[in-house]
Amino acid sequence: MVRNLKWLAVSAGALALATAAETQTADTRGVAHPNLWPSAKSQGLVDPKTEAFVSQLMAKMTLEEKVGQMVQADISTIRPDDLRTYPLGSILAGGSSPPLGAPDRSPAAAWLATARAFNAVADEKRPGRTNIPLIFGIDAVHGNSNIVGATVFPHNIGLGAMRDPALMVKIGRATATETAAAGIDWAFGPTLTVPQDERWGRAYEGYSEDPKVVASYAGAMVEGLQGPAGKGTIQQGYVAASAKHFLGDGGTTGGIDQGDADIPESDLIRIHNAGYPPAINAGVMTVMASFSSWQGEKMHGNKSLLTGALKGRMGFDGFIVGDWNAHAQVPGCNKGDCPTAFNAGLDMAMAPDGWRELFHNTVAEVKAGKIPMARVDDAVRRILRVKVKLGLFDAARPYAGKLELVGAPEHRAIARQAVAESLVLLKNNGVLPLKGSAHILVAGADADDIGQQSGGWTLSWQGDGNTNADFPGGTSIYAGIAAAMKAAGGSATLSADGSYTTKPDVAVVVFGEQPYAEMRGDIRTLEFQPGDKQALALLKKFKAAGIPVVSIFLSGRPLWVNPELNASDAFVAAWLPGTEGAGIADVIVGDAAGKPRKDFRGMLSFSWPKTAGQFTLNPGEKDYDPLFPLGYGLTYARGGTVGQLSEVAGVDASLANTSVFFTKGSVPAPFTFNGDPKVEVKPVDSATMQEGAAQLSWANGQQATIGIGAAKMNLARETNADIQLQITYRVDRAPTAPVKLTLSNVSLDASQLFNKAGPEWRTVKIPLTCFRDHGGDMANVTTPFALGTTGPFTVSIADLRLAADPAGSICPK
Ligand code: BGC
Ligand code: BGC
Repeated sequence: MVRNLKWLAVSAGALALATAAETQTADTRGVAHPNLWPSAKSQGLVDPKTEAFVSQLMAKMTLEEKVGQMVQADISTIRPDDLRTYPLGSILAGGSSPPLGAPDRSPAAAWLATARAFNAVADEKRPGRTNIPLIFGIDAVHGNSNIVGATVFPHNIGLGAMRDPALMVKIGRATATETAAAGIDWAFGPTLTVPQDERWGRAYEGYSEDPKVVASYAGAMVEGLQGPAGKGTIQQGYVAASAKHFLGDGGTTGGIDQGDADIPESDLIRIHNAGYPPAINAGVMTVMASFSSWQGEKMHGNKSLLTGALKGRMGFDGFIVGDWNAHAQVPGCNKGDCPTAFNAGLDMAMAPDGWRELFHNTVAEVKAGKIPMARVDDAVRRILRVKVKLGLFDAARPYAGKLELVGAPEHRAIARQAVAESLVLLKNNGVLPLKGSAHILVAGADADDIGQQSGGWTLSWQGDGNTNADFPGGTSIYAGIAAAMKAAGGSATLSADGSYTTKPDVAVVVFGEQPYAEMRGDIRTLEFQPGDKQALALLKKFKAAGIPVVSIFLSGRPLWVNPELNASDAFVAAWLPGTEGAGIADVIVGDAAGKPRKDFRGMLSFSWPKTAGQFTLNPGEKDYDPLFPLGYGLTYARGGTVGQLSEVAGVDASLANTSVFFTKGSVPAPFTFNGDPKVEVKPVDSATMQEGAAQLSWANGQQATIGIGAAKMNLARETNADIQLQITYRVDRAPTAPVKLTLSNVSLDASQLFNKAGPEWRTVKIPLTCFRDHGGDMANVTTPFALGTTGPFTVSIADLRLAADPAGSICPK
């Protein structure tokens, strides 16, 4: 496709206007006019003293040292020692990457020790070497949320509902303090995405679908994290921020993560760019390039936007960091080689596991003239400038080690206030506030589960597998309600399954989405719990018993919940509040007489759908017909009721499943079973369910393959993110011939997984990269699983799905 914005593809200094003819031929959908892009200017990053210091350093640096600054490795694949050989400028801790010698879920001390171990080598004085401090980044996206004991703030969707920029500054400041205290220099936030299709698994990382809300927060959050422009340093407990993901990540067609924003330039600017000028004006030190593409071109290769628009027109003087191996998706690149991205304006590539190759290849490409030296010098200058301004050259990091600040009471108080402010009251037919003297039953599987209320990007990438013990100092929603009720003279009883002996005055039911992150959270319809309405059954049970019901809904986006709304007397959208669950009781529990102690103030920052098919529901669109519009939110003071709602979802629920191929004894839609008459299939019990598994028997001497069929699936992103095919099985009769495991067009010899019969159920995870590395076409998968051999062989399968925790996965050989 012809690119528009040709005029922007020039160096920042020599920004020239295109002729009308040029812009018109460029792209019919684009408007390619320079004046469309707002102007902005990095505050506080460039000053003569800093630039002179950087020039002096650069004069001493070798080419290897310069290229090293442009490469960032993940702590799961680099050891401090490697920095003696590879003079890299940065490390990161990815969402599932553990600190050195400790589990992924570790308290701050282990992270501090990790940071110190890397810094010690980076800071070693060795002859012939330019000393440059390392910058260590982490996804401190809702507090320093990778670290056990940290204050976990509500995810951005909840913060958006507060409409409180002043509180955002405090949240940023507290997050910075807890990040710096753990020895880490750089937070990969704020996320300035403006999600337009709520099926996207990252919708909750955005403050709002409304660009104005995002713009009103961008500068505040940067100021909170970095301090006042040009003045905040790591010595004062500030960290570098990273505005992400530039640009258009929230505008992809179908809400597909890492997809393509096929939108005109005017929308790219008006909607998706809204947060960047205020972030730049507030001095944001880094911007992260997006995985996604615009009009078919990957952002990591888009010179017009990275160099022309961002560094040129919008005057960004910090550095552009890449996303997780995202450069590998630029045509002609792989994770260890991508001159195109650097030439497009990427300053530092996030190369979690390909850093060695990327380093060598980039050095060679500069030598061969494929990457101009001027481009390298520009990148290195930007990176060093940030390191200087952050104060990394000045002294040790004095906040590093102030571990008492991680999860400090004053930070938790800010988070608790944010939780209270973020709640949006969708419906209240008089049952709220709860009378403090009443007896309340707190029900639902999520009622006493801090992991559930924190969502993705919490202790692990996906935020799954967390227990309350992983959140010392945190408060579950139940615990908060129990304390408030007790203080007012009433009581609260916890009952996950909703059973009770004494009939309560009111039931509070806490339920919602399971945690997810990135593409793992992409859904195909907006229906909550399609096909399996567990929460609804609980609500109806109380209703039938004449008990008033209050729903507390935990979700990363508005979902179609009309049946649940109908079954509730009050309904609160609580988003993903984080560790300070007491903020919910502050608003829903009144005093002993039932007078409010604190009113609701949250307003929807995303429109709430009337059907499960209103995927792109944004004000200004023709046919905008939400159930609750942007800005909606009831209060005690204003009141307002909601009547009976239609329970017709309007969308086929089977569309929803994208990653479970076999479970509970059957193949869920939209997947199909591809049998072969030569293989006998019969139901057997699984470890947890009667007839929950299928036993497959290959007859003696018979060659056959059976498996699961799918309409074409694109698993390229899942592969890039190290997702695995997970198989839960029991070998009933060991095979006599090799067993072939197929995914896409690749068949691996998986005999080692099946060669021992036994009564135990086993779960294996095979990384999708394993199939890709054997030549798999991961973008066009019609067979997500198949098994073939020549009998006899008998295996029982209980579960087949995609899983997200690479720990313990194996690639059969
Ligand atoms: C995400 C980024 C994140 C990075 C580091 C990527 O997959 O898209 O938002 O900062 O990983 O974990
Ligand atoms: C990492 C995340 C990263 C993701 C890529 C995970 O393995 O832990 O930090 O964002 O892969 O999408």
